[in-house]
Amino acid sequence: MLMREEILFWLREKDPEKLKELWARADRLRAENVGDAVHFRGLIELSSFCRRNCLYCGIRASRPGLTRYRLTREEALSCVQKAVDFGYGTVVIQAGEDPGIDQNFITDLIREIKARSSLIITLSLGERKEEEWIAWKEAGADRYLLRFETSNQILYNAIHPKAPDTVWPNRLDLLRRLREIGYEIGSGVMIGIPGQSIDDLARDIELFQELDLDMIGCGPYLAHPDTPLGKIEQDPDLGKQYGLPATEDPVESSNEMAFKVIALARLVCPSANIPSTTAIATIDGKQGRTSGLSRGANVIMPNLTPMEYRALYEIYPHKAAALETAEQTHAIAIDQVKSIGRFPGSGPGGRKK
Ligand code: 5AD
Repeated sequence: MLMREEILFWLREKDPEKLKELWARADRLRAENVGDAVHFRGLIELSSFCRRNCLYCGIRASRPGLTRYRLTREEALSCVQKAVDFGYGTVVIQAGEDPGIDQNFITDLIREIKARSSLIITLSLGERKEEEWIAWKEAGADRYLLRFETSNQILYNAIHPKAPDTVWPNRLDLLRRLREIGYEIGSGVMIGIPGQSIDDLARDIELFQELDLDMIGCGPYLAHPDTPLGKIEQDPDLGKQYGLPATEDPVESSNEMAFKVIALARLVCPSANIPSTTAIATIDGKQGRTSGLSRGANVIMPNLTPMEYRALYEIYPHKAAALETAEQTHAIAIDQVKSIGRFPGSGPGGRKK
């Protein structure tokens, strides 16, 4: 069990020479526990409609001027075919909390994917009804991703206005419920949210371990100028207005901080699947992605969404790979993995405890 002091020590360490020890420990644990294969999860951004109004997110319901899209069944299935053609073991079906996507649409999609392929299916569709989660599991879905975003409840509540028909659910309870239903569960946090402290982040990392997560996805918070939180740099008074906690010990939103969280996640959950995420690649392209893979990560999530829609799934600005085809994204990902002496994984790439 990693002690809180040790987590805090590394989160505060700035000396690149000392940090090499953390990177090396994480990389060694990664190699010992999950090997040198890098698993490719083909990401399908199914819909950019969302009923929520998270203060940081570029696809929040009341974002002005954003053209929304929802893939048809056939469009989604042609993305799935690319995953098969590229030899991927998993597809990740992600969307905003879109009421226009109903239970049956997803159930049918899951059945069709399972009938056509041996792909593992990961869902990332937000807070949906429990009966939907159960139906999708029964239809064949395997994994569910739901980031808890931050363990600081004051901060969480401030940046996640309630949906009209729900109370603030405790995402930790939701994750436990998803596991009971039978999913492998993934979660994670944003790094450097305004109002987030180093202590909060240390607690986040402890929670990865307490929840015994199968998958841990984390990335730097990236300010989106068309969101309420994205305007805070120009107008710090907004923090009070939004009810953000005041902190003396804020977390920097940087790739270095994200690498620390990835490395510490590997230390606390040695057998978890940990991606080098798109937000990291957005800050620093190839170097960002490969550094993540060398500091504890063993997964990447190449985007399979049709090019004409990618830029519209704009959760943050300048998202990596927004101007590429699935073929280009795939070729680049393969090169990156090979450039650090690793190789694409085969098969489902599930968590081996
Ligand atoms: N910066 C970084 N990450 C973001 N996400 C949403 N908006 C942003 C942003 N502005 C992340 C959230 C969500 C995931 C799909 O994208 O953590 O869970």
